[in-house]
Formats: sequence, structure tokens, C-alpha cells
Amino acid sequence: MIEIDRLSKVFRSRDGADVVALEDISLTIDDNKFITIVGPSGCGKSTLLRLASGLIRPTSGSVTIDRAVVEEPRQDTGIVFQMPVLLPWATILDNVLFPLKMMHREEADSTEQARHLLGMVGLGGFEGKYPRELSGGMQQRAAICRALIHDPNILLMDEPFGALDALTREEMALEILRIWTNQPKTILFVTHSITEAVLLADRVVVMSARPGRIAEIIDVDLPRPRTFEIEAHHEFQQSAQRIRELIFGNRRG
Ligand SMILES: Nc1ncnc2c1ncn2[C@@H]1O[C@H](COP(=O)(O)OP(=O)(O)OP(=O)(O)O)[C@@H](O)[C@H]1O
Ligand SMILES: [Mg+2]
Repeated sequence: MIEIDRLSKVFRSRDGADVVALEDISLTIDDNKFITIVGPSGCGKSTLLRLASGLIRPTSGSVTIDRAVVEEPRQDTGIVFQMPVLLPWATILDNVLFPLKMMHREEADSTEQARHLLGMVGLGGFEGKYPRELSGGMQQRAAICRALIHDPNILLMDEPFGALDALTREEMALEILRIWTNQPKTILFVTHSITEAVLLADRVVVMSARPGRIAEIIDVDLPRPRTFEIEAHHEFQQSAQRIRELIFGNRRG
């Protein structure tokens, strides 16, 4: 279980002015839930994920995972950043295997597993290429494989499909649902797409503009497994509409 308790983050900028990125966020996330996070640009979504990952420390409040306060990156957490970050000097295959190397957890079948993941996201045959030889979307798909290679209990995904074209994006959304069904894990998934947020989620956390706060949490009780057909469902449309209202006010109502 992840417990986010009165979490705030203030950044001090170079000119001395404070930026309140997050203010008083509290949220409890049960194991193996799929949580999506939506909100306007700059509302603190990436900051929230970085705090949950232990890469940065809060100004006040805490993130607790299985009763331990998160103070540094945890081995049971995988993270996909908003921009794909791969090691430029390593092949795609070695990039995917990198977390296992770091944790000294490489096993006989690790390479096979990495190839399997790459094949799943349409990168079969690119194992020996270097990141610069791949498009932005392909690099991001490799970064997703890297986050999955150690089968983490918690997966933090910051607009992972942002660099993908619309078609690949839909395919990847269904793929991540398949992965999550086969290997249950807690997923925090930031997206700008309202339909993606509803399609994937057990709960959608809607954030308000700076200072970032939770505007509303929307439970999505639509049946699973889900495909894009579910968009025709009345509850799907209601949830999407509610999120639009929260983000845009009634301008688009
Ligand atoms: N390292 C930093 N130093 C100073 N300010 C920062 C830093 N990181 C983020 N901020 C500020 O905190 C606020 C929230 O940023 P964050 O990146 O979390 O937003 P976001 O919701 O992820 O936006 P986007 O949807 O555009 O990715 C912004 O005002 C940003 O300028
Ligand atoms: Mg962001």
C-alpha cells in the first residue's frame, strides 16, 4: 500500500522566488490498483511521481510504501520518465538489462526476458541498436521495457506515451493493461489524455492548477478486461465529462 500524507513540495528558484509545486496532497493507494493522474501542465504531476519514486524529498509530509517512508529510490519501484532517458553508449538490449545489472540480479534467462519485452512493444530486431538510431517513440518504448524488466511491484509512469503516435499509443495502452493483468502491480500513470485516463484506471486523480492539489478522485468501476469499445459505455462518458469539467471548468461543458 502507498500512503501519501499531506505531501507538499516547494521549489526555490534561482531568483529566490518559491514555486509551490504541490500543496497538501493526501492519497491512499491499495496494492495492485491502476491509478491515473490528470491535470493541467505545471500542476505538479511529475513532481508527485518523483516524490513517490524517492528521487526527490518532500518539503513536508511523506510518502510511505508498505509502512516505510520513501527516502531514496526503492528496488521494487520502476519508473518511466516523461522524456525517454537511455544510456547513449549502451545498446537497446543492455539499456533494458541495466536495472538488473545495477541490482546484481541478472539471471540466466534475463536476456531472453528483455528480448520478450522488446518484442512485445514492437522493438524485436532492434536489440543491438543504440538509442540515437531509434525514433523518440521507439526510445520511449525501450524505456518502458527497462522499467518492467525487474517486474517491480510499483510502476510509476510519467506520460509514458507522450512521444508516441496515436495508433502506437492505443496499442501501448492495451499492452500495459495486459502486462498489469498478467503481472499485477500498483501503477501510477500520468497522462494528458482524458480517455486514456479513464480507459486504464481504477481511480483517476484529477489535479488542479498550481499550487497542485487534488481536485477530485473519480472511481472507475467499468468492467475489465477493457478495450477501446468501452468508450461507448455510459459510465465512461460520464467520467470523462466530469474530468473535463474539473480541468476546463464549464468552458467545454
Ligand atoms: N527542479 C525544479 N526546480 C524549480 N521548479 C520546479 C522544478 N521542478 C518542477 N518545478 C516547478 O514545479 C511546478 C510543477 O512542475 P511539474 O513538472 O511537476 O508539472 P507537471 O504537472 O508534470 O507538468 P507537465 O504536464 O507540463 O509535465 C512547475 O511550476 C515547475 O516549474
Ligand atoms: Mg510532467
